[in-house]
Amino acid sequence: MEELFSALWARYAEVTPQAPRVRELLGARGEEIVNDHIALRTLDRPGLKLEALAAPFVARGYRASGDYDFPVKRLRARSYSHPDGWPRVFVSELRTDTLGPAARSIVDALCEGADPETGWPPCSHADYLQLLAESEYAAWLGAFGLRVNHFTVSVNALRTFDGLEALNAWLQAEGFELNASGGLIKGGPEVYLAQSSTRAERVPRRFACGTEARVPSCYYEFALRYPEASGALFDGFVTGSADRIFESTDTQSRGR
Ligand code: NI
Repeated sequence: MEELFSALWARYAEVTPQAPRVRELLGARGEEIVNDHIALRTLDRPGLKLEALAAPFVARGYRASGDYDFPVKRLRARSYSHPDGWPRVFVSELRTDTLGPAARSIVDALCEGADPETGWPPCSHADYLQLLAESEYAAWLGAFGLRVNHFTVSVNALRTFDGLEALNAWLQAEGFELNASGGLIKGGPEVYLAQSSTRAERVPRRFACGTEARVPSCYYEFALRYPEASGALFDGFVTGSADRIFESTDTQSRGR
């Protein structure tokens, strides 16, 4: 399991330089990072569906813990938890039949011969822009293939911050830009989960046509869970918050 997560981290960190920086700065404060969850994105195509991405986790003892629907972003998602407390895994999948014919044929080309672990090499820049016109999510997949979209620091496990607001203030003081869509903090005690995230950094990406362009990659998330009536920490996800969090990789700023 350690190996699986470090391989996923390496592929994520490769396009997310801010994540290892945050981790290093937290480490310098004496914090030990616990992952609350990771999020994976994929397409609803044979061999690539969310169940296929979840299979290596299910084989290691993960169990489905919730189903989620994001009609506006045209996604369905499922979360998985492990009885031994390994990070939760959240997998979402784009309903490609909702795309227009041009975007759908780009997706068809990507899926042809896709590797179930890494997906596909970056599409052409023109295809990226075409996908972007219809779905930020599809464009991100076209540029970055299959990889973790974000790792999430468990704020419950941090010892030197008095809550999520204090952590956000520190991140901003360290120069990280946070996703302000729907406010810096999504959710709260009333839904048993409060989250914030950095805005995805623009990184140079070499597209299939040879064009290099700076496009938003992945982000780093922070989650604070509250105890439910049973006393156990809430284990699920909140659709309304995740909807805003998805916008961390948008090319345009929203909600501010
Ligand atoms: Ni998340």
